[in-house]
Amino acid sequence: MLAVVLPSGRLLEDCAKFFENTRVSFPKEILESRKLSISTKDIKFFICKPKDVPIYVEYGVADLGIVGKDILLEQSPSVYELVDLGIGRCRLVAALPAEKNSEDILSRGGILRVATKYPRITREFFSKKGISIEILYLSGSIELAPATGLADIIVDIVSTGRTLKENNLKIWEEIVPSTARLIANKASLHIKVKEIKDFLERIKGEF
Ligand code: PRP
Repeated sequence: MLAVVLPSGRLLEDCAKFFENTRVSFPKEILESRKLSISTKDIKFFICKPKDVPIYVEYGVADLGIVGKDILLEQSPSVYELVDLGIGRCRLVAALPAEKNSEDILSRGGILRVATKYPRITREFFSKKGISIEILYLSGSIELAPATGLADIIVDIVSTGRTLKENNLKIWEEIVPSTARLIANKASLHIKVKEIKDFLERIKGEF
């Protein structure tokens, strides 16, 4: 029996579509119910918040997990990244109010306030540029921060670009692109090598 942890939300729908064309059976119940643990004959699926996927894999509760590269870069968990699944394509960007330009904001003096769910990537990005910032760690709806005066700039994920546009923001710089990755627990790769190879075989052709 393999345990596989999946991310809830938008990426879960992409996962469902991904598995549709593979030989891994993905129970409809995963999308239709509120259950967080659903088993098929040979796979136990868990569903958790996207940013919690690595911890389930790192601690061996799940043998495999699906998670965005953005989250892996932010957390650097001790897991193996096996495969780029090519789903959940998005970009991590720095964005600012549409009517402002970066020179105005940077030359204004004082410390720049940056709202984000990605403090580590944000710190690295601005430190490479030699710009002092104060990080405001938010857990979601990051695009609200500039409009309300909470922050000057945000660092967040852009997928369709709709949230940025509808909140009057524009991309200042792309930091890194991201897609979903299949990750594995380090011990599971030895203990369950046969099951994991079989799982990879069953999804082959889709990534
Ligand atoms: C993510 C991200 C952006 C939005 C971008 O938020 O943080 O807010 O999606 O998508 P778009 O470019 O297609 O508009 P999510 O939906 O995960 O919710 P959150 O803001 O609560 O984190």
